[in-house]
Formats: sequence, structure tokens, C-alpha cells
Amino acid sequence: MNDINHPQKRKLPTQAIGAKIFHTCNLISVFLMLTSGLQIYNANPVFGGRAGLHIPPIFTLGGWLAGGRHWHFFAMWLFSLNLLWYGIYIVVTRRWRHRFVGVNDFKALQKTQNHQRLNYAWHRLLYTAIVPILLLAIFTGIGMYKPAQFPWIVDIFGSWQGLRIIHFISVPLIIIFVILHWQLGKKAGGEELTASMFW
Ligand code: HEM
Repeated sequence: MNDINHPQKRKLPTQAIGAKIFHTCNLISVFLMLTSGLQIYNANPVFGGRAGLHIPPIFTLGGWLAGGRHWHFFAMWLFSLNLLWYGIYIVVTRRWRHRFVGVNDFKALQKTQNHQRLNYAWHRLLYTAIVPILLLAIFTGIGMYKPAQFPWIVDIFGSWQGLRIIHFISVPLIIIFVILHWQLGKKAGGEELTASMFW
């Protein structure tokens, strides 16, 4: 029985080991992609060229252009293979059915007064939106990595500059996602839920 001397313990959230591994690898690889990408950007800023806005060294990785490229091209394997592995994992375990936004979430966003339900709906919407953003980063990245083999990727974006801009846009989008994802996760399940995603 639940009395004052034996308060019922709150059940801590738990996650499948596969989800933890994916989440940790994703955070590390995205961090490496962001910081090394900003190092590459600094060599010749997309906006304004050499005289354009530079990113302070504290936010960059690699020390110089070649160093940034080495990190970027090393981490792209970690990032892309991890995402591929997670894609297979959620299809095989059928987790995708509960993770992504659905019709009920859109209904909840319009009608419900229940804060918790609203929070879940926003979270799933956000969680779904990040997938095309990450895939776009890979797609535009492949276009820049192998332009001779995939010239049609450059063509889709109109020009090399257009391709660079769309690739670069993944940086602010990912940063905004991480902040919102973190805050919504905290609102839904507190620090324990966030911690359960890593260990
Ligand atoms: C989290 C995902 C990623 C982020 C945040 C990111 C970020 C960036 C940034 C900021 C730049 C500099 C853009 C510029 O000023 O032109 C860049 C360049 C580049 N990225 Fe990414 N990137 C990501 C994923 C990828 C992937 C998956 C690939 C490969 C498949 C890739 C390949 C490249 C290439 C080839 C360059 C140009 C390198 C050069 O010009 O020397 N990126 N990235």
C-alpha cells in the first residue's frame, strides 16, 4: 500500500538499447558535422565571400580548411550509416508507428486543451520534421562531395552557390531542432526522460 512511510516510487523512463545507441551516435556525429562544416564555411563564407561573416573559432573544428574537411568527411560516415541503421531498426521493430506525426496529432493541435497531449503532438511533429532536414543535408552533401558523379544534384539546386546555401541551411535548422526537442522532452518527462535516451 502507498502510505507516507512507503511512498510509491515514480517509475523511471526506460529506452531500448538500440534507441540509446542511435541517439548518442547521432548527437556526437551531428556535433562533429556542424562544427567541422562551420570550419569549411569560414574558408570562403557562403554569404559575402572572404569578407563575409566568419564563425568564431570556438564553434569550429579542424583548425583550418583541410582539417575541417577531414573531420567532415570522417563524421559523414558515422552520421549517414547511423541514420541508415536507425531507419532499418525502426522499420523492423515497427517503432515508426508511434514516433511520427499522425492525423490524431494534427487534430489535437487544433482542438485539445490537454497540455500533455498538445506537448506530445508538437513533439511528434518536430521529430518528423527533422528526418527530411537530415536527409537533405546528406543529399546536398553528396552533391558537393561528388559533383562529377552527381552533376544533376547541383542542377536541382540551380547552381553551386544554391547547393551550398541549402546545405548550409541545415545548420540553423538542426540547432533550432535540438533546442526545441530538448525543451519539449523536458516538459514531457523531465530530466529523467532526457537522461534515459543516453544511458
Ligand atoms: C548534420 C549534417 C551536416 C551539416 C550540419 C553540414 C554542414 C556543412 C557546412 C556548414 C558546410 C560549409 C558549407 C559552405 O560554406 O559551403 C559543409 C560543407 C560540406 N559538406 Fe556538410 N554538413 C552535413 C552533412 C554532410 C554530409 C552527410 C555530407 C556528405 C555526404 C557533407 C558533405 C559536405 C561537403 C562535400 C562540403 C564542402 C566541402 C568543401 O567545399 O571543401 N555534409 N557542410
